[in-house]
Amino acid sequence: MLSLHLFIHLAATANFVAQFPLVDSFPFYNNEERATGSLASFLTFEGPIALQGLLNNIGSGGALAPGVEAGLVIASPSKANPDYFYSWTRDSALTFKALVDAFIAGNFGLQPEIQNYIYAQAQLQAVSNPSGNLSNGAGLGEPKFEVDGTAFTGAWGRPQRDGPALRATTFIAYSRWLIANGSTSTVTSVIWPIISNDLKYVAQYWNQTTFDLWEETDGSSFFTTAIQHRTLVEGNTLAEQIGQTCPGCVSQAPQVLCFLQSYWNGHYVLANINENNGRSSKDVNTILGSIHTFDPAAGCDDTTFQPCSQRALANHKVTTDSFRTVFAINSGIAEGSAVAVGRYPEDVYQGGNPWYLATLAAAEQLYDALYQWNKIGSLSVTAINQAFFKDFMPSVTVGTYASSSSTYTTLTTAIKTYADGYMGIIETYTPSNGSLAEQFSRKNGTPLSAVQLTWSFASFLTAAARRSGQMPASWGEPTASAVPSACSATSAQGSYAAPTATAPLSPCTTVSSVAVTFNVAEITTFGETILLAGSISQLGSWNTANAIPLSATDYQSAYPRWYVTVSLPAGTTLQYKFVKEESSGGTTYEDGANREFTVPTGCAATVQVHDVWQ
Ligand code: NOJ
Ligand code: NOJ
Repeated sequence: MLSLHLFIHLAATANFVAQFPLVDSFPFYNNEERATGSLASFLTFEGPIALQGLLNNIGSGGALAPGVEAGLVIASPSKANPDYFYSWTRDSALTFKALVDAFIAGNFGLQPEIQNYIYAQAQLQAVSNPSGNLSNGAGLGEPKFEVDGTAFTGAWGRPQRDGPALRATTFIAYSRWLIANGSTSTVTSVIWPIISNDLKYVAQYWNQTTFDLWEETDGSSFFTTAIQHRTLVEGNTLAEQIGQTCPGCVSQAPQVLCFLQSYWNGHYVLANINENNGRSSKDVNTILGSIHTFDPAAGCDDTTFQPCSQRALANHKVTTDSFRTVFAINSGIAEGSAVAVGRYPEDVYQGGNPWYLATLAAAEQLYDALYQWNKIGSLSVTAINQAFFKDFMPSVTVGTYASSSSTYTTLTTAIKTYADGYMGIIETYTPSNGSLAEQFSRKNGTPLSAVQLTWSFASFLTAAARRSGQMPASWGEPTASAVPSACSATSAQGSYAAPTATAPLSPCTTVSSVAVTFNVAEITTFGETILLAGSISQLGSWNTANAIPLSATDYQSAYPRWYVTVSLPAGTTLQYKFVKEESSGGTTYEDGANREFTVPTGCAATVQVHDVWQ
C-alpha cells in the first residue's frame, strides 16, 4: 500500500487534469484562430496546444486516450498505419520529463498526472514480458506495453535499454522537487524503490547490445549510452540525499562515460556502433542525446557531448547538413540556414520524411548552447567546430571570444537566428489547428504518419522552454565528466524488487470553492493592462470599472502571460471576457463571443484556464 505522504501535495494542488475533460479545460484549443506573423505569435499559439495535445494522449482522462490506464501515455491516437496505440517507455518518460519540468516551473496542476505516471510505471516494472521479468531485471528493457498495462507479446525490436534510464531521470527530477518541498519520506518510501530498479538495470546491462531508439538497429547506440551515464550520476546523488546507496551507479558511471567516448569519430558523433547496418551513422539520435544530457551547470565539455561542446557543434552541422539534399523541401537552403530534419538520411520508415521532434531537437541544442556560452562568458572556435561557426562568419579564426567581443556578438546573434529558423520550419509545416504529427512530407511538407504524436508535442514544449530561458535542473555533470584512463567492460549485478506503489489515487476531499487562475496570452505594450470582466459579481458583473486587473509578473516573449487567480464557488457557470485598459484609463473588450467557464466540482482546489486574446 502506498504511503499517504504522496497525497499531501495532491490536496494542496490542482488535480483537474485527471478529473475533467481536458479539451474543455482549455477552451481555446478548438476555437482560437492560429496567430500569424512573427515566430513569437506562433509560439504563443502553439504552446498551450502542444500541452493540451500531450495531455489528450494520457490515460485515464485524456480526450484521445479512451480505455488507457491512468498514467499511461499513448505514443499517438493513431490505430492504423502506423498503430501507435501503445505505451512506449521511452516516449512516456520523455513526455513526463517535459511535464515534470513544466510542473517545477509553476504548472502545479500537472502533479496528479505525474503521480499517476509513477503508479503506472511501478506496476509495469513487475509485468513479465517478452524481454523477461523483474527477477533479473531483464523485463525492464521491454520497449512498449498494451494500454491496459499488460505485456505486448508481438514481435518487436527488443530490448531497448534507453527506457529504464529515461524513466529514472524523469522520476529523479520529480524527486528532487519533492525533497526541496519537504516530502523526502515520499521519495524514500514510494519513488526510490522504482528508481532503484531502473538504476540497477542500467548498471547491470549498459554494456550489452540494445535496439536503438528507432527500434531498428541492434548494437550500441549513442543516445542510450549518453542517457545511461547521466542517470547513474544523478541516481547516485539522489541516493546520497535520502540516505540510500547505489553502488552500481558509483562503479559503472565512469565506465559508461569511458565507453561513450567511442562514438566520436573525430568529425561527428556516430549514432550506432557495434552493428553493421551499412549506414552513415549520421542520425539525430546524437542531437537528442546531447539535449537530453544537457546540464546548465556544465561547461562546453566534450566528454559528455554538451550542446556547446566542439564535438556536439561539429556534429550538429554534419547531422543537419545530411538532410539538405535528401529532402526536396530543403532544396536551395544554404548551409547555416535551418532545414527540415529527419531521423537519419537513409531512413525510409513511413516515407522517411522530416520529423517534427528531430527538427525541434536541432533548435533545442542551439538554445542550450547559447545559454551555456552566455553563462560562461565566452565561446571557443576550434579546428573541430570551425566549420560550424564559419556558416555564420566565414572569416572566423580559431580562438576564444569573450562575450564583450564583436565576434561573440556576431556569432551568437546569427546562431540565435539559426535556431529560430528551425522553429520557423515547424511553424511553416504545422497545420492551422496546431496539431503535430510524427512526420511531414519531404516533398511538400504536409503532415504524415502518426497524428498527434505525443513526443512531437513534448519536443515543442522543451524547445520553446529553452528558447525562453527555462532550463532543466543540473544532473551533476560538473563532477562527473572525467573519463577514466582505461575503459573496461564491467557490469554490476543488481537485485530487483517489485515496487509497492501500486495503489490508485486515494479518494480526495470535495472542495466547495476553487482558486481559478485565468491566463491569457497577449502581447501588450508599456502602459497597457489586461482586465477580467464577467457575468458574476466576483468579476464585476460586466462593469469594467469593477473588472479585475491581471498580473504580468510572468510575462515572457515566448508566452506573454497575463493571469489572475479568483476564488469561486464550485459549480458556478460564468461568462467572461478580457479587457485591455490603456494608461489613459480607456478600456476595450476583446472581440468575439463571450467566453464561458464552469468552475469544476470535485477535489481540485485549483484550476488553470488558458486563453489567447481574441
Ligand atoms: C516500427 C518502429 O517504431 C519504427 O521506428 C521502425 O522504423 C519501424 N518499426 C521499422 O522497423
Ligand atoms: C517510432 C520511433 O522510431 C520510436 O522512437 C518511437 O518510440 C515509436 N515510434 C513510438 O512513438
